[in-house]
Amino acid sequence: MKALIAAGGNARRLRPITYTINKHLIPLANKPMIFFAIEHIVEAGIQEIFININPGEKELQQYVGDGGRWGARITYVEQTGGPKGVAHIIKNAEHFMRGEPFLFHLGDNIVLGDLRRFAQRFAEENLDALFAFARVPDPQRFGVPVIEHGKLVRIEEKPAVPKTDLAQTGIYFYNDTVFEAVNSIEPSSRGEYEISDANTFLIQAGRRVGWEEITGWWKDTGKPEDLLEGNQLLLNEVLSKEAINNGMIGPNVKIQGRVQIGKNTKVWDNVLIRGPVSIGENAMIKNSYIGPYTSIGNNCVIDNTEIEHSVIMDYAEVRAGTRIVDSIIGKNAIIESSKNSLPLGHKLVIGDNSQVEV
Ligand code: DAU
Repeated sequence: MKALIAAGGNARRLRPITYTINKHLIPLANKPMIFFAIEHIVEAGIQEIFININPGEKELQQYVGDGGRWGARITYVEQTGGPKGVAHIIKNAEHFMRGEPFLFHLGDNIVLGDLRRFAQRFAEENLDALFAFARVPDPQRFGVPVIEHGKLVRIEEKPAVPKTDLAQTGIYFYNDTVFEAVNSIEPSSRGEYEISDANTFLIQAGRRVGWEEITGWWKDTGKPEDLLEGNQLLLNEVLSKEAINNGMIGPNVKIQGRVQIGKNTKVWDNVLIRGPVSIGENAMIKNSYIGPYTSIGNNCVIDNTEIEHSVIMDYAEVRAGTRIVDSIIGKNAIIESSKNSLPLGHKLVIGDNSQVEV
C-alpha cells in the first residue's frame, strides 16, 4: 500500500502565520505538524509516500526531505494549477498512485491511534473505499455522512444543517476506482473539486464502500484554537513517553510535571515551569512562569512573563511583563512591556490578518 498526503492549500484561516510558513510545518509539541501524519503512516507499515504540494513550494521539502529519517521514500507531487480542491489532489496524482491501493491522509489532520486495523479491514473485505468518521460538536465544518437505515447513502460537504454529528476525518483508503470518481465530478459552487462529491460518486455507483468511527482523538487544525488544542493533546501524548531535560538549570528554578528542555537552553532566576511543556534548544527563560500546554521553539527568549497554553515559534522574544494565554506567536515576533516607554498604552506593529485581544 502507498500513501498520499495533502500538504498544499491556502490555509487562510491561519493567517498571518501562514503568510510565511506552510501550515503543515507549524510546530505542535515542537515538531512540524506534518511529521505526525508521516509517523502515523509509517507506523501503519507504509513506506512509499507521496506528498501533494502547491506549485513552487520549496520549504516543505527542506524540512521533510526524502523520508530517509523515517525509513520511508517520499516523492513530492505539485498540484497543477494550485489548490483546486481535495478531490483534485487525487486527480492530479493519478499517475503516481494508480495500480496499488492507497491511504489518503490530509496533512493538517492529527489522528492518534493505529491505522493498521483500517488497512487490514480494507484489504480483508476487499473494499473499494474505506472512510474514517468521528463524532464532533460542529459537523457543519466538515464532510457529513448521510446514513439511512444503517446504510451510507452520501456525504454532504459542510452542510448548513448536518444530518448527524459524525464528520468525515482526513483519513481515506482507496483503490483505483477512485480515479473514475475524481475524474467524473465537477467543481462545486465554491469552485473546488470536493472529496465528498467523489466519495458520494463511489457510494452511488455501488462500489464497496466501508466506514468506521474513530474512537480515539482526531483534530483538523483549520483554525487557531484547533492548533492550540492540537498542541495540548500532542504534548500530553509525546511527553507521556519521554520528557528529557537537557537544559542548563540555574538556582531558584522549579520544574513540575513533564517538561522537555533542549540543549543549551538556559532556565535562570526565579522561574516556575509546570508541565506538560516543551522548550526547544538555545532558548533563554528568565524570571517567568511557563504554564501547562506551552511549546516554546528554538532560540526564544522569555523574560518577565507568565505564559500558558500557547505556541511560541523559533526566535520569538517575549518580555511582556504580563500574563499571556491561548496565544500563537510567530517566528521572530517581539512582545515587550509597554510600561518601559512613553507614552503609556499598547504600541502595536501588527501584520495583515493578525488577531490581538488587548
Ligand atoms: O479535515 C477533514 C475535512 O477535510 C473533511 O471533513 C472535508 O470533507 C474535506 O473537504 C476537508 O475539508 P477542509 O475544509 O478541512 O479542507 P481544507 O481546505 O482545509 O484542506 C484539507 C487539507 O488538504 C489541508 O491539509 C490542505 C490540503 N489541500 C487542500 C486543497 C483544497 C491541498 O493540498 N490542496 C487543495 O487543493
